Amino acid sequence: MALVSVKDMCEKALKGKYAVGQFNINNLEWTKAILATAEELKSPVILGVSEGAGKYMTGFKTVTNMVKAMIEEMNITVPVALHLDHGTYEGCYKCIEAGFSSIMFDGSHFPIDENIAKTKELIEVCKQKGMSLEAEVGSIGGEEDGVVGQGECADPDECKKIADLGVTILAAGIGNIHGKYPANWTGLRFDVLEKIKAKTGDTPLVLHGGTGIPTDMIKKAISLGVAKINVNTECQLAFQEATRKYVEEGKDLVGKGFDPRKLLAPGVEAIKATVREKMQIFGSIGKA
Ligand code: 13P
Repeated sequence: MALVSVKDMCEKALKGKYAVGQFNINNLEWTKAILATAEELKSPVILGVSEGAGKYMTGFKTVTNMVKAMIEEMNITVPVALHLDHGTYEGCYKCIEAGFSSIMFDGSHFPIDENIAKTKELIEVCKQKGMSLEAEVGSIGGEEDGVVGQGECADPDECKKIADLGVTILAAGIGNIHGKYPANWTGLRFDVLEKIKAKTGDTPLVLHGGTGIPTDMIKKAISLGVAKINVNTECQLAFQEATRKYVEEGKDLVGKGFDPRKLLAPGVEAIKATVREKMQIFGSIGKA
């Protein structure tokens, strides 16, 4: 199956009251693990690529070609979107050229008028190419030096302005944070989410920072209009823990345990388990 935009899968998810997971990829193992799990569970899936991960994999063209080839070689039949995560203006154009099926333009750090102008321009380009665009209003908090206890919240009126431009999906800060949540995190702001939803109508909303959000909060967010949830750190932690265990148990020292295909296998299985668990919580299983 060819790459698809996130439009249909997110609109369906919004109507069906579930969410599609965006899982960020870093290399071949990550991609293979996520695609295999999505296929096994018959779930639509979004592969997220940050600009840093794109650079790590030698460039966005490498990523597109790898993903497209894997879809073919692995006989993947579920809908797969290849999506730029937190793209800069320049990064968006690079991904459009490289054959991604979706981009996120993160203009949240620009003054609202500049965010609007750039988002508008990119929407037009995406429309011509059959691609989807995710915009962001109100930056997603991140823990820095352990000081951030509360993620930022978007202004519902600004959300409306951006949604009305015709973005495919909208990321809006509701107290969510990238990475691990600090012990003093006060939870998602459902009051803000309700206000954003009331102003943005049928635009599917995106919840970033999916790592570590309690299941009941995830379910409530979905019931209030979230149709895409991003998960990155949790797969990294699962991979790290499984790899550490393999080495600490001395398995790399036994026989051909040093073979990268053996050394990386527990980490791959751990990513699969994490993706499976998330797809179950998000309710996307069997929705392909
Ligand atoms: P986490 O790393 O917290 O799961 O966040 C992922 C994300 O939102 C990517 O945009």
